[in-house]
Amino acid sequence: MRIVLLGPPGSGKGTQAALLHERLDLAHISTGALLRDAVDQQTELGQQAQRYMDAGNLVPDDLMLGLIEERLGQPDVANGFILDGYPRNLAQAEALDAVLERIGQPVDVAISVTVNEQEIVDRLSKRAIEEGRSDDTEEVIRNRLRVYAEQTAPVAGHYAARGQLREIDGMGAIDDVQQRLLDALQAG
Ligand code: AP5
Ligand code: MG
Repeated sequence: MRIVLLGPPGSGKGTQAALLHERLDLAHISTGALLRDAVDQQTELGQQAQRYMDAGNLVPDDLMLGLIEERLGQPDVANGFILDGYPRNLAQAEALDAVLERIGQPVDVAISVTVNEQEIVDRLSKRAIEEGRSDDTEEVIRNRLRVYAEQTAPVAGHYAARGQLREIDGMGAIDDVQQRLLDALQAG
């Protein structure tokens, strides 16, 4: 199964995708995690991406396309995948369609995880203390939410237009959200 997970920062995309990876053996592809690795390793991509990430802005589409194409070329993708954090705008959604068509692995379903804004702020503020992710500061969280509303929210429409969009409630316990996700995947 080939799944796109959509949702604002803090909605639990990474948490839910990791659980789904364990359960269904699908490749978990988090562009945020790939970028953070590139920054840690000081690769050319990491050096170019860092200032965008630090500000909570999107890394330019051409850099992202190279990254996602390379990841989608790896062998574990043949089993299916969960995309977490890509596509992030309409241009990325169209670029992704073209890559997936070329490799014969089109998206089956997009799941949009909804969470209210107060919960997002609570979760990310907590993570800031526990993990110290550099973009979990109040100002950058605010910008990430703005970027999400302006650029990423319209991506849901891209999948809805093809009848591929399902929505789940991302509030409550992690295991309950996972069950809703599994139910949504099973719903024909
Ligand atoms: P990215 O890493 O994708 O960050 P994000 O979208 O801001 O999302 P988060 O990772 O903060 O949230 P999440 O939805 O994964 O939730 P999580 O499971 O972690 O992107 C970072 C940056 O990279 C972007 O700003 C951009 O610069 C760049 N980037 C990435 N992809 C890009 C692209 N395609 N194009 C351009 N630029 C790109 O959960 C959050 C917290 O809540 C965790 O602490 C978790 O433990 C907790 N939690 C999860 N579920 C629950 C629950 N049910 N109850 C209580 N707590 C919970
Ligand atoms: Mg994440």
